[in-house]
Amino acid sequence: MLRRRQFLTGGAALGAGVALDRLAGRPGAAATANARDTSVTGPGPATDRQRRFAFDGPRQAGVLTERQPYAIVVAFDAITASPAELAEGMRELSVRARALTTGYDALLGAPSDGPTPDSGVLGSKVTPGGLTVTIGVGASLFDGRYGLAARKPAGLKPMPVFPDDALVDAETHGDVLLQLCGDAADGLLHALRDLMRATRGVLAARWKVEGFLPPPSRSPGAGRNLLGFKDGTANPDTGDAGLMDRLVWDEAGGTYAVVRIIRNRVEFWDRVARAEQELMIGRLKDTGAPLGKAKELDDPDYAGDPKGARIPMDAHIRLARPRTAATEDQRILRRGYNYSRGIDEAGQLDMGLVFVAFNRDVERQFEVVQGRLAGEPLVDYVVPTGGGYFYLPPGARDAQDWVGSGLFT
Ligand code: HEM
Repeated sequence: MLRRRQFLTGGAALGAGVALDRLAGRPGAAATANARDTSVTGPGPATDRQRRFAFDGPRQAGVLTERQPYAIVVAFDAITASPAELAEGMRELSVRARALTTGYDALLGAPSDGPTPDSGVLGSKVTPGGLTVTIGVGASLFDGRYGLAARKPAGLKPMPVFPDDALVDAETHGDVLLQLCGDAADGLLHALRDLMRATRGVLAARWKVEGFLPPPSRSPGAGRNLLGFKDGTANPDTGDAGLMDRLVWDEAGGTYAVVRIIRNRVEFWDRVARAEQELMIGRLKDTGAPLGKAKELDDPDYAGDPKGARIPMDAHIRLARPRTAATEDQRILRRGYNYSRGIDEAGQLDMGLVFVAFNRDVERQFEVVQGRLAGEPLVDYVVPTGGGYFYLPPGARDAQDWVGSGLFT
């Protein structure tokens, strides 16, 4: 009985979490350290439930990793009064993430049957299922509560309100961020419940968005967003390590994530003629090619169109990335997902893009790009409602280390 009560009370949840790990089988030597974040230790395609991305490595997975089909982006408020419990909760996130991304034989049951390590959502065999758990911290974690002010990463600050934003406080900011990506929606929900149970009493969920991508078989090249355009075509090459050091990673091997929940006004958009939509984006709707070009990966050739006769000067892609020598270091690594989550009071669909972009320096990169996009024609059709800025610390070095250890110890 005592055990059950301990399990149910927030303050004791950490101790329970540690005990549960043992039962759930913590990954040990089986977890292969991963020098290149993108390497896959499982053999097969996305449908292979053994597909596995190592949690440990110099840099966190889920940044350069090619997008898995599903994502959950969730932010938490830290609610414990104790700095030690906060650190222990952060450590616990890594312990559980390591187990979940490795797989284990789950014990099923109810809390009253004794300690139960698993919700059972995936049955008795928890497989990695292409899961990545990426952990971030928001600027608010470094306020006066935990004595961490001096540890705040240099480039971390709260996300400002941009001119066309309609931010809702309940889905903006947060002390801790988790980005879960994987091959199946149920795998992510299983992971989320496990991670939340292990940190009960320490972290309370603040907002959550579930994202998805179209199946790769739908069309060649980048998948489409919910405006019907290919999205993700022009992204910096994640295989170019030097470029990633310039655009994504800081000296420590961390990075800054910008998350923007951007609703698409799809009913309104669907009444706009295709040619007009294409002028707003700067690309053809069917092939994804830049206007006037034949293929998705063709260069838009702005030098050959200096007045915007082919691709308007205010087209989204042209403003976002003018492709001049001076603007190339402003590039961001976009890794967003589509979302759809119900209907508003007016009966309109609430769907859009969970925009996620990784930057080495948010002010040099995302904020400059965002500044150029202010007032673009597309703003009539998209409404940013939430998100935040988060620092993703370097990865856990080994099974004894945890993400964020450098900030807390
Ligand atoms: C719901 C909102 C948005 C939609 C529907 C959208 C849509 C698109 C589409 C269709 C493309 C062309 C395909 C591609 O290269 O991926 C694109 C490119 C791009 N977008 Fe967005 N976007 C949105 C928001 C943003 C935001 C907030 C930013 C940054 C502040 C951004 C930055 C970029 C960049 C950098 C490119 C690549 C341009 C290039 O390299 O040629 N987008 N976007």
